[in-house]
Amino acid sequence: LGYKITTTHQQTLTQTQSKTLKVNASFKVAILGAAGGIGQPLSLLIKMSPLVSDLHLYDIANVKGVAADLSHCNTPSKVQDFTGNNELSNCLKDIDIVVIPAGIPRKPGMTRDDLFNINANIVKSLVEAVADNSPNAFIHIISNPVNSTVPIAAEILKQKGVYNRKKLFGVTTLDVVRANTFVAQKKNLKLIDVDVPVIGGHAGITILPLLSKMKPNVSFTDDEIEELSVRIQNGGTEVVEAKAGAGSATLSMAYAAARFVESCLRALDGDSDVYECAFVESEITELPFFASRVKIGREGVEGVVSSDLEGLSEYEKKGLEALKGELKGSIEKGVAFANKEK
Ligand code: NAD
Ligand code: LMR
Repeated sequence: LGYKITTTHQQTLTQTQSKTLKVNASFKVAILGAAGGIGQPLSLLIKMSPLVSDLHLYDIANVKGVAADLSHCNTPSKVQDFTGNNELSNCLKDIDIVVIPAGIPRKPGMTRDDLFNINANIVKSLVEAVADNSPNAFIHIISNPVNSTVPIAAEILKQKGVYNRKKLFGVTTLDVVRANTFVAQKKNLKLIDVDVPVIGGHAGITILPLLSKMKPNVSFTDDEIEELSVRIQNGGTEVVEAKAGAGSATLSMAYAAARFVESCLRALDGDSDVYECAFVESEITELPFFASRVKIGREGVEGVVSSDLEGLSEYEKKGLEALKGELKGSIEKGVAFANKEK
């Protein structure tokens, strides 16, 4: 794959809107955990997409009201609600993209890995239902710890005989959204021009922004690189502390997840120039899963932008080596969990 600039969200919306005269809303999206802090604003943003014909909202509670409320918006998609295990299979029939933000969020003092015990079970049971009912769908995992929940999902899909590595994504778009925002603020750049690839994983030091590979080409002092990288790595904690016990990022996450869904919808619709960062299975490093820039097409991941790992700065090279141990451990923890009762 050659190097390409990832389309920014502003461009994405404009492109999609300009295409609305040519395309019909025809894609079906399901959100599992739709009544939650992320689920509600994400459902609203997806309800606004001209590419979506059906929006299926699933949660274990409170989803009826969310769906009734959203269904009054005069945008093309038909909204349906599904509650509880009995309705999950119907929710997932003929779905093109399944987004999973179900699970508990952090409180101050917690790591994402502290969410493992509860969220691993939630993701396992939801992905089992996806495997049984919409095995060809793109699956977007938001539930933390993403570094473990994506490997769990892969193992469950393998056990069910329907794993397609091209269609399973850990959503790391929020790291890119934060990097773009913080770098643009720091260097006084126009946001529309800024695109920072963020690779590795989605927790602490496993989040590695590549300032040497960003657009536009900007020079930084060593102190600026350190300050920006640490802020991007701790962006989630910044929000957790500000919310002081009331949860973690929901609105910026919904924005980021909507951008990722919209990019995948454009890819499904035949756009051949869709690039996003995501945590996927790849051979770009010796680790089985790694977040990197990926090209997305009708069948999912068409390739990873391996050139992003060439010519890294010394700071980035060290960061890459430093993250591998933790990321490997989180991946292995997820794989072991998924296989423990086999
Ligand atoms: P929340 O508690 O506000 O909402 C979670 C929702 O999931 C609730 O409505 C709950 O009823 C639902 N739920 C729980 N078990 C379920 C099940 N078995 N099936 C369906 N729904 C179920 O939490 P939130 O703030 O929306 O965060 C959700 C998750 O997203 C957390 O794990 C959080 O850490 C993660 N997150 C990830 C990112 C990222 O960048 N990937 C960013 C922010 C948050
Ligand atoms: C984030 O990056 O905001 C999320 O992963 C939520 C969290 O726990 O920080």
